[in-house]
Amino acid sequence: MKGKDRKEIIGKAGGGKADDKGGSVQRIKEDDSIFRKRLERHHDELRWLYMELYENDSMFAELCENMRSFFLERKEALRESDRTREADQGWYKKNDMLGMMFYIDNFAGDMKGVEGRLDYIEKCNVNYIHLMPFLDTTEGKSDGGYAVSDFRKVQEKLGTMEDLDSLTAACHKKGINVCMDFVMNHTSEDHEWAKRARQGEGEYMSRYFFYNNEEEPALYEKTVPQVFPTTAPGNFTWLEDAGHFVMTTFYPYQWDLNYRNPRVFNEMMYNFLYLANRGIDIIRIDAVPYIWKELNTSCRNLPQVHTIVRMMRMIGEIVCPGILLLGEVVMEPEKVTPYFGTLEKPECHMLYNVTTMATTWHTVATRDVRLLKKQLDIVNSLPKEYVFLNYLRCHDDIGWGLDYGTLMEEGIGERSHKKYLNDYFRGLAGESCSRGELYNEDLVTGDARFCGTTASMCGVEKAASLQDEEAMGRAVRMDLMLHAYMFMQSGIPVLYSGDEIGQVNDYTYKEDPFKAADSRYIHRGPMDWELAGNAEDTDTVQGQIFQGLRKLEQIRKSEKVFVSDADTWTVETWDNSVLCMGRYYEGEKIFGLFNFSEYDKTAWINETDGDYVDLLSGREMKACGVDIPAYGFYYLKKKQG
Ligand code: GLC
Repeated sequence: MKGKDRKEIIGKAGGGKADDKGGSVQRIKEDDSIFRKRLERHHDELRWLYMELYENDSMFAELCENMRSFFLERKEALRESDRTREADQGWYKKNDMLGMMFYIDNFAGDMKGVEGRLDYIEKCNVNYIHLMPFLDTTEGKSDGGYAVSDFRKVQEKLGTMEDLDSLTAACHKKGINVCMDFVMNHTSEDHEWAKRARQGEGEYMSRYFFYNNEEEPALYEKTVPQVFPTTAPGNFTWLEDAGHFVMTTFYPYQWDLNYRNPRVFNEMMYNFLYLANRGIDIIRIDAVPYIWKELNTSCRNLPQVHTIVRMMRMIGEIVCPGILLLGEVVMEPEKVTPYFGTLEKPECHMLYNVTTMATTWHTVATRDVRLLKKQLDIVNSLPKEYVFLNYLRCHDDIGWGLDYGTLMEEGIGERSHKKYLNDYFRGLAGESCSRGELYNEDLVTGDARFCGTTASMCGVEKAASLQDEEAMGRAVRMDLMLHAYMFMQSGIPVLYSGDEIGQVNDYTYKEDPFKAADSRYIHRGPMDWELAGNAEDTDTVQGQIFQGLRKLEQIRKSEKVFVSDADTWTVETWDNSVLCMGRYYEGEKIFGLFNFSEYDKTAWINETDGDYVDLLSGREMKACGVDIPAYGFYYLKKKQG
């Protein structure tokens, strides 16, 4: 196959089998011409990048062949959606996009259960659901499903691939997009490849990082930081039975895949396309910065990672252009944005706004919006094509990745500040009403991360336990204010399931031996449907939060200034506790004001260009010298004419 030129491969990829029925021959021809066109658009660059990594013509040809098969296998409804989305590439940047993430079992038992709960999802105004990992995994060695043992099988307790097909089809009928994790950095040690590698089959050992002595692992350890310093120290695991070390950046049962091997890349791309063909709209590429390893480096964000993500983007655009790539890059801002790629050579469609999220909670603890304002200014100055996924909480811990350079200018040191934040959110320091737990406390570096639900961090849990109504009122206001502010950010907001009814921490994980060591389970409790039954009753905490969010959601989807492409900026308020953000789109303007403190404040903004109305209360207001109550917020819209 070596030496095959571009035309030949495209020609081959385009040559369908003869069919005796005239109609289907015609269809295959049409399909092939669509596929050929898409392949042609990306072929040279894709081949170039592939050769850069692998120098392997026949494997590249195999990749193209398989892309064609996956394309042909794609259901008509999905291809139709591909065509529509290709014609409207900004389809996901509209102001009605609202996500929610949940564990299938926690939310509704199984896939069929989720299908039965789509009405609730619609009631939440959610049109994008992130189904947390549901592929086959070993109980007790699953890392919440992030240790996949079969990429083409659903966990039995959750359902089957047919159930997934049915769920995605039902979602699409209601205009709901479905997101899933594609855990490509590693497999479970119970994956077929891992089992065969463990038995000494060279072909499979070469799909991982195996070493029969400790020299190379020791060299890696010199430069590679640890992800789970307490729960899973080190980056290698000794396999007694196999007499080898294997690289395990995460848990010892999560074996890192070796992307230097083109077989690994090709097979993982086939898995990606197989899953896309189940009707998945958004593929969350898990732990993407880690996928390429190189001695004497940190094994994070290496250039080859970008080559791979760029190839994935092109493969997606050729086979299933209706899907989006969401990169999980939990890193400092300068490491995150490169995963968008460039405008000519894009990589991910969306990335998590992780630094903004962590800085938000810093602001809650300090009542000082200055660092947040600076962070938002950075995000606001990025090209509009970059779409961030905004969130307050997700299934993982909060890593306190803040701009310590700026904090240091105020004499705030990293170590002491992290300690303060962790103390604060455990309810041990400052005027805190938060509850939660540390995660992966590293006794050597003094570093620790934090776990807890939004509501618990806002004080709902403490107020309930003390039966303190006033404190509860404050907690609910803070919770809603944070959501209102999150909705105002540039990008797509995603709710963490349970947050819409103010669900608090769940401490029962401590009784489960498989979960007890991993405090992230504190915020992964099952959905409390009994409490959700209070959603319409504003005498309850659940009802107040649910209805408060509903109002915000309705405003967001009816006001075009909330589209992702809008201009966004921050405004000086001359009060360090009050944040002001502006949005402008096609002649419409809105200011969001958010008081991060427990005191009534005045925002000394001076927008004297006309009259404004607060979209929440309907009250007419001036956008200057705005009085704003404790944990209060406004969406001030400029009146037309
Ligand atoms: C991602 C997931 C996290 C998991 C890790 C390893 O960071 O969000 O939950 O532990 O990947 O797969």
